[in-house]
Amino acid sequence: MGSGIAQVAASNGCQVTIVDSSQPALENSKSKLKSILNRLVEKGKINEEQSKSILARIHWTTKMDEISNSNMVIEAIVENLEIKQNLFSEMESLVSDICILATNTSSLSVSKIASVCKLKSRIMGVHFFNPVPLMKLVEVIPTEETDKKLLSEVKSSLEGWGKSVVTAKDTPGFIVNRVARPFYSEALKIYEEGLADFATIDWAMKEFGGFRMGPFELMDYIGNDVNYSATKAVYDGTNHDPRYKPSPIQKKLMDEGLLGRKSGRGYFDYS
Ligand SMILES: NC(=O)c1ccc[n+]([C@@H]2O[C@H](COP(=O)([O-])OP(=O)(O)OC[C@H]3O[C@@H](n4cnc5c(N)ncnc54)[C@H](O)[C@@H]3O)[C@@H](O)[C@H]2O)c1
Repeated sequence: MGSGIAQVAASNGCQVTIVDSSQPALENSKSKLKSILNRLVEKGKINEEQSKSILARIHWTTKMDEISNSNMVIEAIVENLEIKQNLFSEMESLVSDICILATNTSSLSVSKIASVCKLKSRIMGVHFFNPVPLMKLVEVIPTEETDKKLLSEVKSSLEGWGKSVVTAKDTPGFIVNRVARPFYSEALKIYEEGLADFATIDWAMKEFGGFRMGPFELMDYIGNDVNYSATKAVYDGTNHDPRYKPSPIQKKLMDEGLLGRKSGRGYFDYS
């Protein structure tokens, strides 16, 4: 997600620093972005000059302190409350008081992430969808303490990037991930009950339901770790409402590292 957000920001003239604790993840981000931009040039969507200037605006690093001069930081690391809280504490100690701190969390409480910070008025959720350059929708999630003026500035900037922005309450899964949970869980139940295999369920949803991707294809695209964490966060956040209970299959896939496209295997094999 971080690379996609960076691509959109840089395409709209922002200087971007991508920070990741993993050097291989940075290499992967760089090479994927280069091939995406090459494809856009081949298709005539952008020219060579634009491609070069987008790349020139992005800097990849493992050093967190390189965010210190930023006006805005969008966190898009692993979907884990404690790890995000630790990062927000660290970021707060590195940036100036006027830097906006946003989280791209899919489902965790933005207030809980912000709770570890001293200056909470500049913290909000800014939730993009995958793939970021193609998906127009962005949810912005203020907490009780988010500065309203900052929120409206962020919304205007995102609209300037061509996004359709909706303000969501800081509730489990916000709007889209709350609504999307049954799409996955019902499909998993159909599989668990032995009614159809993954490919057949996906086929039916595309053929008869008009969906661009079936639930299993989509879970593999999102990442089965991210999807399981989002389901669990909504389940936990709704006091274990049985409608949102994760399937054991989701956990099994995550535990076994069958994360979907990014690991080469999930519900389907991509090797
Ligand atoms: N995958 C999706 O479709 C999707 C959609 C919307 C939002 N999100 C949210 O975006 C966030 C990232 O999801 P993703 O799919 O890009 O995950 P990912 O696993 O593909 O990427 C996360 C990256 O964060 C890095 N990282 C982990 N801990 C770090 C730390 N402490 N400091 C610096 N880097 C660290 C990892 O090395 C990895 O490269 C999650 O909060 C997720 O819920 C994901």
